[in-house]
Amino acid sequence: MTQTENLIKSLSSRLTGPLAGAVTPPGDKSISHRSIMLGGIAQGQTTVRGLLEGEDVLSTIAAMRAVGAEIHKEKDVWILQGVGLENLREPSGFLDVGNSGTSVRLLIGLFGGRPFTSFFTGDASLCKRPMGRVIAPLEQMGAHFMSRSGGRLPLAVAGATELKAITYLLPVASAQVKSAVLLAGLSANGVTTVIEPVPTRDPTERMLRHFGAELAIEKTADGADAIKLTGRPKLVGQEILVPADISSAAFPMVAALLREGSDVTLKNVGINARRAGLITSLQEMGADLILINQRDLCGEPVADIVVKGSHLKGVTIPASRVPIMVDEYPILAMAAACAEGASRFLGLGELRVKESDRLTLVAEGLKACGAQVEIEADDLIIHGTGKPPQGGATVKTALDHRMAMSFLVLGMATDEPVAVDDASVIATSFPAFVEMMNGLGAKIG
Ligand code: S3P
Repeated sequence: MTQTENLIKSLSSRLTGPLAGAVTPPGDKSISHRSIMLGGIAQGQTTVRGLLEGEDVLSTIAAMRAVGAEIHKEKDVWILQGVGLENLREPSGFLDVGNSGTSVRLLIGLFGGRPFTSFFTGDASLCKRPMGRVIAPLEQMGAHFMSRSGGRLPLAVAGATELKAITYLLPVASAQVKSAVLLAGLSANGVTTVIEPVPTRDPTERMLRHFGAELAIEKTADGADAIKLTGRPKLVGQEILVPADISSAAFPMVAALLREGSDVTLKNVGINARRAGLITSLQEMGADLILINQRDLCGEPVADIVVKGSHLKGVTIPASRVPIMVDEYPILAMAAACAEGASRFLGLGELRVKESDRLTLVAEGLKACGAQVEIEADDLIIHGTGKPPQGGATVKTALDHRMAMSFLVLGMATDEPVAVDDASVIATSFPAFVEMMNGLGAKIG
């Protein structure tokens, strides 16, 4: 690696004063992916405002273009001329979706019902992640797969000509698995049912309905949600306004809480109850955080969030909260490391299969910064002392955007700077992170 590349990749964050300002964090990643996928297969025109233009969503755009969807941008509006699901064509080359698990897991569902073969690959992080959890139900529906051992990328999916509608009980609380089965169900004859014992994020269900699909949600005798999608719907192009992503808002939110005297407003943030576990958790820690201007944006609840510097205390987060804040544990761990008293985050097994093994890397990074941390089975225990740890470390991010952003936020509160070895991956979900944080008063560079 040249010295210049090294400079671009590593970043460090220094102690700052109070943060102030009002910002709109980038668009919701989950909604952005789905708006491109559904806009690409609907009949007629779809317009998307507020799309997240991070590398992950750009990968979905490239893949949808490769199967024939017409997608372009005029000023700040993305415009899709949908070709109809039945007119998608076989992509001519490999679909390289970079770091994006959402792209590959959802697209193999969507393409698994089309009579062509597509080849997927990704970066070193994505090639380690398990795809078996989506391959299993899609094979039951009739799609065929060839993958590396353990269901890893690169993989090929040969779509079925006649996809079977199945009833699938989710073995793991994953919105990506649920979505892959539902998107495959679009090509099936009859009703595809996904039974979800624990609620996970629901942008696929909301957007399928928005585009005109027949989708019902019933309760099973056990109290689980049974999501029933009628196959081969007529999907019609829509106008979509994407709210800001609570998973990205999380970084300025926690940064403001950690710096005394801060007063930051995060505008237009999606607060869907299936995503908002972080707000509850921070409030339980004593955060001065209020929601104002609550309203509805294209069927999604949004609010402006006003955050003030706060003295946080330790908290126990039950395993049941994982599905509604699955991506927010790394940044919540930074808050816990600065809080007073022990925090216990329970049942974090799923964090081991994210963009990195977040459970291990968060613990190692915090220890390197001087915090006292333990992992017991799948639980993370952080012993906060009431003031931030010392800092003064370079933390390994392992191609994980949320690791990089979390530790740069920690460095805003530690006496000694915190550096991350590779910050380039932040562009997957929050390309303007450094600019936005420095605009609020951070010293990241
Ligand atoms: C996502 C679902 C979650 C989340 C990911 C985005 C989605 O993954 O971690 O960042 O858009 O459906 P899992 O379904 O694996 O929990």
